[in-house]
Amino acid sequence: MKISELVKKFPEEKDMGVLSRPYFNHSIEFKNIFTQAKRAEMLETAGLNVFFFPSEMISGCDLLSDSGTTSMTNEQWAALHLGDEAYGSNRGYFKVMEQVREIFGEEFFNDPNSRRPNAFIFHQGRPAEDALFTMLGRLGSGLIIPGNGHFDTTQANIMRNNIQPMNLFSPELMDESFASHFKGDMDVERFEKLLKRSHNRIPLSLLTITNNTGGGQPVSMGNIREVSELSHKYDIPLFFDACRFAENAWFVQQYEPGYRRKDIKTIVREMFSYVDGFTISFKKDGLVNMGGGLFLKDGGLFMKKYPDIPDALMGYQIDKEGHPTYGGLSGRDLMTLAVGLKTATREEYLTYRISQVRDFGEELHRRGLPVMTPIGGHAVYMDVNKFFADTRMQPEDFGGVAFTAVLLAAYGHRAIEMGYFAFGSYDKKTKKETLPEFNFVRFAIPRLRYEKQDLDSVVEAVEFLYEDRDKIPPVRVTYGRELPMRHFKARFEFRK
Ligand SMILES: Cc1ncc(COP(=O)(O)O)c(C=O)c1O
Repeated sequence: MKISELVKKFPEEKDMGVLSRPYFNHSIEFKNIFTQAKRAEMLETAGLNVFFFPSEMISGCDLLSDSGTTSMTNEQWAALHLGDEAYGSNRGYFKVMEQVREIFGEEFFNDPNSRRPNAFIFHQGRPAEDALFTMLGRLGSGLIIPGNGHFDTTQANIMRNNIQPMNLFSPELMDESFASHFKGDMDVERFEKLLKRSHNRIPLSLLTITNNTGGGQPVSMGNIREVSELSHKYDIPLFFDACRFAENAWFVQQYEPGYRRKDIKTIVREMFSYVDGFTISFKKDGLVNMGGGLFLKDGGLFMKKYPDIPDALMGYQIDKEGHPTYGGLSGRDLMTLAVGLKTATREEYLTYRISQVRDFGEELHRRGLPVMTPIGGHAVYMDVNKFFADTRMQPEDFGGVAFTAVLLAAYGHRAIEMGYFAFGSYDKKTKKETLPEFNFVRFAIPRLRYEKQDLDSVVEAVEFLYEDRDKIPPVRVTYGRELPMRHFKARFEFRK
């Protein structure tokens, strides 16, 4: 019997319970090992703010962010050496633009012969947001930007330009009885009401894919289509905050009826066919450590409605970041981005990536820890209110901040509070705290970096803390409570 016949008698590897990773380690870095006592001493110095804790002292997993923390592939490291550091229109720019054309569509490609620029490279996502909302802020006063859940930097850049950000989270987001896979959707009913009431105050609508502020939950194609139709009906352009576009497409493929047989690239193309532009931080699904961009659809509603903005954007960018063909990035960064974009849309990569996050989250859930389900694409979100429900922890004790400090000091894993402290605000005059809708701690999983054993140790550490949750004391803010983006800056101490 031929081996080709024989092998058919065995199940295929895709049908096995445990799949080998679709990559292997190319080079590795040993961690430093620090004691609890040393970490605690350092955290004391850092005022319990985990952002200020030196990453070299993290002996466990650093789950502070999935942004810019990817381990690059050997092809990216090789591409780095081919970087062309010319002052304008370097080799990497053209390679990135080829990928933009291939992945997002011809309309987002900047034709060098066209006089009207529509692709702007930035050094990360937030300067792209700054540029877009600065342009929109100049259109008038009393403006609103509705979205399915603005990210913190997006919200800050909108507000900096005197525009009001409005979050229209899906009503299913925090409802456990809904097993929907698309809890990141925008609440269309509220959106429609807002449009009827205030459409002339809305210069643009924004869908964040996946919805980082809303549990890392994906947005369905149906919702994207509906929001696009509604927006366009009122002559309002729709944009994506597209950081995790490939992960979002994977969820559509897996869980949305009619998409199971479509490949990721086809799904991405359809998603982007509904929008008039997008901002992106390539530090996520670009698989790079630095990079971002702003892309306007040629012939799209945004370019039609605001014909003067592209040139103004170019001027603004040149003053702030440099020529749109490098936008604050070196030529070698652009080379790694061109390769990263190709890898990020590979199906076997996405399946492994999202399954790793899901397995980690489901293990926490199985052990009774209050994480949001179903698990999102890049991170696991734990409900702080539920975690501390039977303890003395009060909303203004910022339990999430206390939790992340103890997790880091006791077990060497870094997570981030994304809840009452990060998204809340404090009015110094009235001494009143305004709390957001959700109170999470987020465990963001860097791409291609950790293995199952690493994440298993985080599960065990969180379980230990849960068992002893009444030993975690409230925190007092010693500095920065009233500041914007206060979670990056504030300092705390434990109360008795
Ligand atoms: C949804 C979303 N938008 C925007 C940004 C900002 O990107 P950057 O950190 O590159 O400035 C982030 C970063 O985490 C994000 O998650």
